[in-house]
Amino acid sequence: MKNKHSAHEGMKPEIITPYIPDATEKKRLYELALKEIHERVKGVDSLVPRMATVSSILKNIIPYYSWCGFYFAEENEMIVGPYQGTAACANIAYSGVCGTAAKNKKTVVVPNVHEFPGHITCDTRSNSEIVVPIIEDNMVIAVLDVDSVLLNAFDDIDKKFLEEKIIPILLEATN
Ligand code: SME
Repeated sequence: MKNKHSAHEGMKPEIITPYIPDATEKKRLYELALKEIHERVKGVDSLVPRMATVSSILKNIIPYYSWCGFYFAEENEMIVGPYQGTAACANIAYSGVCGTAAKNKKTVVVPNVHEFPGHITCDTRSNSEIVVPIIEDNMVIAVLDVDSVLLNAFDDIDKKFLEEKIIPILLEATN
């Protein structure tokens, strides 16, 4: 039987060339990630460890993720939470992609970050991005932010999976 602490199938190799799989493969990889996330969050009932688990598993399985993590919504700025990838800006203004998603309480998909007015650059290699708000009692408590070095990496499959499968797992921890 697979042990909770054992290595898991599906992890991409440490160094790979980022690529965007076709829709079928995208869904398969997300299902694989979801299975692993469910296993790893069993018995973990607080938000930050769940965020850490989610960011690690997604970053390590999805081949076009270059940065994956969270920003907490504070009154005047957003503060970085658990993440995987190169070192990020610790505090960001509400003017960027994360702030836009938080202010509008809606997912933002950015095919080309260089064309998004106000985009905040934490990693100059990033070319596209998706930000999904985490909403509890009608308030945005944080956002999930994913960057890709590839242009046009995110579509409705990513949006749907993150909104419908990942955010609820995080919210379970706050109830
Ligand atoms: N690009 C984000 C900032 C966070 S980094 O991508 C990790 C934004 O514009 O809000």
